[in-house]
Amino acid sequence: MNKPIRNNTLLGASARAGLSTAQKTLEAKWFYDHAGSALFEEITFLPEYYPTRTETKILQDNIATISRLFPDGAALVELGSGASTKTRLLLDGVDQIGGYVPLDISGEFLLETATILAEDFPSIPVHPVVADFMEPMTFTPKTQDMPKVAFFPGSTLGNLESDAAVDLMARVSHWPNVKGFLLGVDLVKAVDRLIAAYDDAAGVTAAFNLNLLHRLNREAGATIDVSAFLHEARWNARTSRIEMHLVAQRATRFFVDGKEFSMRFGESIHTESSHKYTFERIEQMAERSGWTAKEVFVDECQDFAVVYLEPAI
Ligand code: SAH
Ligand code: AVI
Repeated sequence: MNKPIRNNTLLGASARAGLSTAQKTLEAKWFYDHAGSALFEEITFLPEYYPTRTETKILQDNIATISRLFPDGAALVELGSGASTKTRLLLDGVDQIGGYVPLDISGEFLLETATILAEDFPSIPVHPVVADFMEPMTFTPKTQDMPKVAFFPGSTLGNLESDAAVDLMARVSHWPNVKGFLLGVDLVKAVDRLIAAYDDAAGVTAAFNLNLLHRLNREAGATIDVSAFLHEARWNARTSRIEMHLVAQRATRFFVDGKEFSMRFGESIHTESSHKYTFERIEQMAERSGWTAKEVFVDECQDFAVVYLEPAI
């Protein structure tokens, strides 16, 4: 359960800034308090949400090849590790892994997951890091010199704007002794499938989106009438992304971080972008950020890709 934290100043300040722009926005990283992380886990089991089961199958089908790419004694460093479910396939199937560093902003959820993993994989040291992956990464003396393979599954990269995604990939290429980058990315596909994946019939994605407003009320002293908002998923063809919005169903006013905001009927808060890629785009991003694609693994419908990148020489 969430503990009530009423003074999350970073959350309050970020929300105040995002709600002050012409298109109101909230940063997607704030979805992930404990309740948000649990809701995301529910999303991964939805029939409409194809990315998780597709990426899992790609990893299962190609684990022998993936295993051969890993250096001996590798530290597996996962960005946005969540429940680390897919990671279990790597920890089981890649003998060379000598340590696991799950990094996530959702601290309580991360530490619970890390405890369970450490029990299930007693021979692999687990070093959880509660952090924002957009900040510079710091390694502990234990992991600093280990050869590293970054793992960024789930197409979480797609939640970043294009330049921020390339910047993050470039920063990873400069980690000490980094040898590879196993990256999961969602591919462009029919719009009706994309909309369904982000607006499921059971309403779990809606609850995930609305939880952001509940979180602002819980942790940042906001006064938002959450019942005034509805979840909406939109395809933005120009930027090749699904956008999640919270749309006001009536005029509403509220306070966030000491500032009063008013919204018109139909006005939205843009809460998340989820970019969908082509192979060409992935290659361009890799090139711009100091990586070359060594292997590309896809499912038979080409819904999702897992790429193994190596530092460009
Ligand atoms: N890797 C898992 C979870 C993906 S969900 C999978 O593939 O299923 C995205 C995860 O990234 C969440 O656990 C969320 O808490 C984390 N996350 C989102 N933004 C983050 C940020 N800026 N810094 C660190 N973690 C972040
Ligand atoms: C974590 N991230 C890649 C998910 C996505 O698909 O963009 C978050 C999500 N949002 C709605 N459903 C899932």
